[in-house]
Amino acid sequence: MRAYVLLVASVAALGGLLFGYDTGVISGAILFITKDFELGTRLQAFTISVVLLGCMLGAILAGGIADRIGRRLTLMAAGFIFLIGALVSALTPNEAVLLGGRFVVGVGVGFSSVIAPLYISEVAPASVRGALVSLYQFAITVGILVAYVVDYVFAAQGQWRWMLGLAVVPSLVLIGGMLGMPESPRYLFKTGDANRARSELQRIYDDPAQSEREEESIRDSLRMKAAGIEAFRRPEVRHALFIGISLAVLQQITGINTVIYYGPQIFQMAGIASASASILAQSLVGTVNCLMTLVAIFFVDRVGRKPLLYVGLTGMFLALSSMAFAFARPHLSGALGTIALASMMVYVGCYAFSLGPIVWLLISEIFPLPVRGRGMSVSTLANWIGNFLVSQFFLTMVDRLGRPATFGTYAAICIVTILFVRSMVPETKQELLERIRLARA
Ligand code: BGC
Repeated sequence: MRAYVLLVASVAALGGLLFGYDTGVISGAILFITKDFELGTRLQAFTISVVLLGCMLGAILAGGIADRIGRRLTLMAAGFIFLIGALVSALTPNEAVLLGGRFVVGVGVGFSSVIAPLYISEVAPASVRGALVSLYQFAITVGILVAYVVDYVFAAQGQWRWMLGLAVVPSLVLIGGMLGMPESPRYLFKTGDANRARSELQRIYDDPAQSEREEESIRDSLRMKAAGIEAFRRPEVRHALFIGISLAVLQQITGINTVIYYGPQIFQMAGIASASASILAQSLVGTVNCLMTLVAIFFVDRVGRKPLLYVGLTGMFLALSSMAFAFARPHLSGALGTIALASMMVYVGCYAFSLGPIVWLLISEIFPLPVRGRGMSVSTLANWIGNFLVSQFFLTMVDRLGRPATFGTYAAICIVTILFVRSMVPETKQELLERIRLARA
């Protein structure tokens, strides 16, 4: 792979870093914000979830904007939005402005969750596309881990403004970095700028024959009539949309963010009493999440997307079932507590090399070029809605259904996901983006 391609993908992946940081940082900051602004339970919950509402708005706007002004400018816009949101949140005089700032941050996260994987997949050569888009998920996990560490460091003095404000640093790097990055060659062909598009393709591929082949198939795919909203009437686009939305929702309703957002509460259920031990356990979750994503980077273009999904989902199913079993007892003393904790780590680890990266990868691959931006927007919106619902209702589910049934439900959804992948999802390993065809289209 050319170093150039790796550089371009890495800069774009910074969008993932911000995604992870901004969704992860609030868990530590909220304790102190609640104290400073004397928040009640409702307002506290809203301060946590308002970012997800911003994400929904950002996700739905981003695709159309990226189809109009280009991938590169939209990603830079995401950087600016982050920057403004982070500054407003850090310097806020009161709770209302804080909510506004966090909403704006969410819009930035929503933008980048659509555009970063889209841009990377359009710049990457087919042979390493999986690894490069997985780099984006890796950046998300690094962001989450960094957020846990920053929270830990600033917690001693309760400096939540620093926790929220430090997101300024990666935003500036993203904006600065994208200044020097090229536009996606696919977008350039789409807008008729063939000369620039061709020279971009030549920078991506060593072999001129390869870049010619790619140009041909991009042009071919652009012949699809009816771009824009109209295109969503076409059966192949609808089918892609069905797969994209389903995968995006399944990624969330198998429960990952219960562990990412509520880890410390779950540790308490498993019998870890002290705050410092639960912070330590949460950092371990963050580290496992991060390191196991490397497995995907290494294998996703070699063994393919579907085999990794099967292995990961089976592991998630087993781990969740064992958590459901352990949590069936009122007290998790000794061995049971250890089983519950180990199962959580296995669950996160299996997610990290399967459903985490591969969902983003697949939804950046399955849409035909003329509607790729919009298709990704809608799928990503579904992802954020799923995220919002699970994170809002997790504690209520535990209260109403009990812990075993809650984790048991997530386990059952893993099986549904395996069946879905088996029957609906195409294997896209090593295929040129334009050659990816869906079975029923
Ligand atoms: C998901 C996030 C999740 C993260 C955990 C991402 O792919 O979209 O909702 O928090 O993975 O690593």
